[in-house]
Amino acid sequence: MKRLAISSLVAPLALFALAVADEPRDPSAPDGLRPGGTIGETLSAPPMARQSREPGRRVLNYPEQPPVIPHTIRDYQVDRRSNRCLTCHSRENAVDAGAPMVSISHFRDRHQQVLAAISPDRYFCTQCHVPQTDADPLVDNEFRTVDQVLTEMLEREGEGGGQ
Ligand code: HEC
Ligand code: HEC
Repeated sequence: MKRLAISSLVAPLALFALAVADEPRDPSAPDGLRPGGTIGETLSAPPMARQSREPGRRVLNYPEQPPVIPHTIRDYQVDRRSNRCLTCHSRENAVDAGAPMVSISHFRDRHQQVLAAISPDRYFCTQCHVPQTDADPLVDNEFRTVDQVLTEMLEREGEGGGQ
């Protein structure tokens, strides 16, 4: 009776052990933004991307693009009480700071009413303006500038006209 009880206990255990042995011990982790490695491994984070050192304002890719920020914005606080960006880019400070003033669009609210101060819609500058780094793109990008699109369009029309 006792032997029977033990064997009925061991059999399922042995089966379980077999099933576990089949599973890979440390399966490879899904390829996320930080690819490679296994579930059990902790890979060190890649080095932080460096801010681009190219001086001067950047050419826009299309006319309505929010210009990218050509300087570092580390520790520039923007919250309900203060906005560091405006200490240089506001109408009052821009000339002294030698910075371009925010454009007229930043004074219009969503009903196209022109306000005396920066519109609340435009208060959080980094919603639209971002600095650039030397990081590799995370996903492929086939973006073409408006000039490339126009050139290709003209070329296509030229080919069509010749027929
Ligand atoms: C200490 C002054 C100062 C502060 C603070 C500052 N900027 Fe600037 N910013 C400048 C100057 C000067 C330039 C022009 C740089 C040049 O011409 O090379 C500039 C350029 C820019 C441009 C490019 C404009 C264009 O037409 O190409 C953007 C966008 C910008 N800043 C956004 C910001 C934002 C957003 C913040 C806050 C997070 C900020 N700046 C804080 C001084 C400042
Ligand atoms: C909702 C998006 C948005 C927000 C928020 C925003 N901007 Fe802009 N900004 C733009 C766009 C789009 C342009 C280019 C077209 C234009 O001038 O309206 C621009 C242009 C600029 C320029 C260039 C002006 C010129 O005459 O060349 C500066 C400087 C600037 N923004 C600074 C700022 C600062 C500082 C803030 C925060 C107080 C801010 N922006 C918030 C979208 C935004």
